[in-house]
Amino acid sequence: MKFTIPMPLQHEHEALHEQLRLATKISGEVGEAAKRLDQLMHPHFVKEDRFALPPLGLLAALARGEWSAEMAEVLTLTDQLEAELPQMLAEHQGIVAALNTLREAAARTGHRDIVAFAEALTEHAQTEEEVMYPAALLVGQLVRQRLSQHASAAA
Ligand SMILES: [Fe+2]
Ligand SMILES: [Fe+2]
Repeated sequence: MKFTIPMPLQHEHEALHEQLRLATKISGEVGEAAKRLDQLMHPHFVKEDRFALPPLGLLAALARGEWSAEMAEVLTLTDQLEAELPQMLAEHQGIVAALNTLREAAARTGHRDIVAFAEALTEHAQTEEEVMYPAALLVGQLVRQRLSQHASAAA
């Protein structure tokens, strides 16, 4: 079964990536700070797109009480998220530190749009820590519960 990241979250990631790409083109300290941030962000985004966010594609169906056996395939993703969560949170700390550097450089040089981007990306990381990652983990816990209920009902 294919698990698809909800469209608004996909768009948010694409927009943040694009803004970062544009920031790396700016010359001087702002561009340098953006490039350092980009190096940290890229591998992190790849993990989010691969296993942290796709489980959220099941939220609406699970909330409606829907069930199909192939939903259990999401456990591969949510188990991986659970295992890698400490590492991903540590990556956020590095990203937020790089964002602070970028924001300060942008503020000093009058790049207000980059200041706003740095603030938006900092908030994005907080939203992931407080909402998206926990929701994805809950998807895994609920699917595991339903799977065992269906297994015992079938026995
Ligand atoms: Fe993200
Ligand atoms: Fe993130």
